[in-house]
Amino acid sequence: MYRSHTCGELRIAHVGQRVKLAGWVARVRHMGSMAFVDLRDRYGITQLSFNEGYDQALLDQAAELGREFVIQAEGHVAERESKNKQIATGEIELIVEGLTVLNSSKTPPFTIENETDGGDDIRMQYRYLDLRRDSVRANLELRHRLGSTVRNYLSDQGFLEVETPVLIKSTPEGARDFVVPSRLNPGEWYALPQSPQTFKQLLMVSGFDKYFQIVKCFRDEDLRADRQPEFTQIDCEMSFVERDDILEVFEGMVKHLFESVKGLSFDSFERMTYDTAMRYYGSDKPDLRFGMPFVELKAPGASQDLISGKDFVVFDSVESVLAICVEGAATYTRKQLDALTDWVKRPQIGSKGLVWCRVEADGSLKSSVDKFYDAESLQAWAQAAGAKPGDLMLVMAGDLHKTRKQLGELRLHVAAELGLRDLKVFKPLWVVDFPLLEWDEESGRFHAMHHPFTSPLPEDRGLMVTAPGEVRANAYDLVINGVEIGGGSIRIHDRGLQAQMFDLLGFSPEEAKAQFGFLMNAFEYGAPPHGGIALGFDRLCSLFGGSDSIRDFIAFPKNNSGRDVMIDAPSPIAAEQRKELGL
Ligand code: AMO
Repeated sequence: MYRSHTCGELRIAHVGQRVKLAGWVARVRHMGSMAFVDLRDRYGITQLSFNEGYDQALLDQAAELGREFVIQAEGHVAERESKNKQIATGEIELIVEGLTVLNSSKTPPFTIENETDGGDDIRMQYRYLDLRRDSVRANLELRHRLGSTVRNYLSDQGFLEVETPVLIKSTPEGARDFVVPSRLNPGEWYALPQSPQTFKQLLMVSGFDKYFQIVKCFRDEDLRADRQPEFTQIDCEMSFVERDDILEVFEGMVKHLFESVKGLSFDSFERMTYDTAMRYYGSDKPDLRFGMPFVELKAPGASQDLISGKDFVVFDSVESVLAICVEGAATYTRKQLDALTDWVKRPQIGSKGLVWCRVEADGSLKSSVDKFYDAESLQAWAQAAGAKPGDLMLVMAGDLHKTRKQLGELRLHVAAELGLRDLKVFKPLWVVDFPLLEWDEESGRFHAMHHPFTSPLPEDRGLMVTAPGEVRANAYDLVINGVEIGGGSIRIHDRGLQAQMFDLLGFSPEEAKAQFGFLMNAFEYGAPPHGGIALGFDRLCSLFGGSDSIRDFIAFPKNNSGRDVMIDAPSPIAAEQRKELGL
């Protein structure tokens, strides 16, 4: 037996017991003829004590120990004289009577502490050491807890976990595929799944009416903090359901996760249409931890125009002028306002400028466009925006679509500056009624906004012929704190409608048959009405863990160039291997 207890287990109640511990040396302190060792394992840290008057051989052994040596220590548990309240085992120590070095260690390239001196690159290169740090380990523990809670919850609800293949044919989900050459079929390629979308639909045809899978998906896309080339979905599908059935089941699951993992309970999640989200927040994933909805001072279809006719050419010549009201920000200094203006002018945002208007304590108004807009006009802005004394309005102008996006970014930026993006607050939201299709200028054709298997809203089906760009999809996203946590839809289960959809997407019947013949055929053998959703598991973990980066919740993640710097992948393959694959 290597150990009788873990390094996180011993308490005052164990005093006097003989125990054996095994773990890694976190720290060694020599004090005169005494020595103390902090022994670490996954469960915690226990102090080992080599007291004065000890057997010299043991003290000599302790003197040899270095950081990260793997050792086994045997002895009895004693109450500590100076207790450490910071750690769970801080009341006791192990008086060592026997010590075995199980393995030595080179000095690690960074300190294995919560506050480490290791930069990102070196920690990724030595990820197995990084994973010894409490904070990183705790993230993986959280991931495990979330994963097992999901599995239990869905199993209890009658869902079956079914594995689907990893070597498949490409599914068009919008990103590029990773592909794998086939040795046995020279010149032919598998694709790694961007999601198990078509397989879960086929499982519905097979009668597995409640499916789920915690599954790896692969997408060759540009990476960001919330995107990895391989990531994990909680992928789900149900038969004989309508949209609200799906929303109810998965809202129930997410509430259960919050309740059991974070002790938080929620009322019904808010629902918002895509149009509303874009109109008031300039984003299909609005962060609702704070307000600041857009006010349309001038916009196509707006109920008012508080802009035109004042000889301000910049505003007169644009499609839209939109504002947000930042509560209590009238105290922003000139310098702060200039900094915001510079921020929106950065190429990433790409705005030409920013207009501000503040409501002073006495109710008077001061703006950067006082030359064009008199007190009365500005008062009308303030009224439209609900701005009170002490508030600041930030105004952006331009093409409606672009301005919404830019002001949406500014809204998030200002909220972050004001500390409104509180990691401990959670605001879940269903965004519904997405457009079915998106016009792609580059290819001059429609793309499916979600994927080609998404059905239109029944009431919009007629528009598929007359105005395809206006058709709304029976699709929904789960958004929490401005992060798209999941997305799904009610699917097309009718062969004719599916063919019509492929046609709209510019597939000839032959192309559709070549790519999706298997699904179209399956639809001829009794496809039930069905729909589903997939939640980004890594994103869910980072949300629960209070981090913006999903990498922290993946044991062995890729860096921003899609590399695993630890194993050095991707890497060239041997000439022999290429030959065998016909490459
Ligand atoms: P979608 O493409 O919206 O839908 O993906 C579902 C969820 O997966 C997460 N996600 C990612 N997470 C990390 N890195 C990535 N590169 C990445 N890409 C996506 C997001 C997203 O909301 N088959 C459909 C689902 C369905 O219709 O049922 C699908 O994959 O959180």
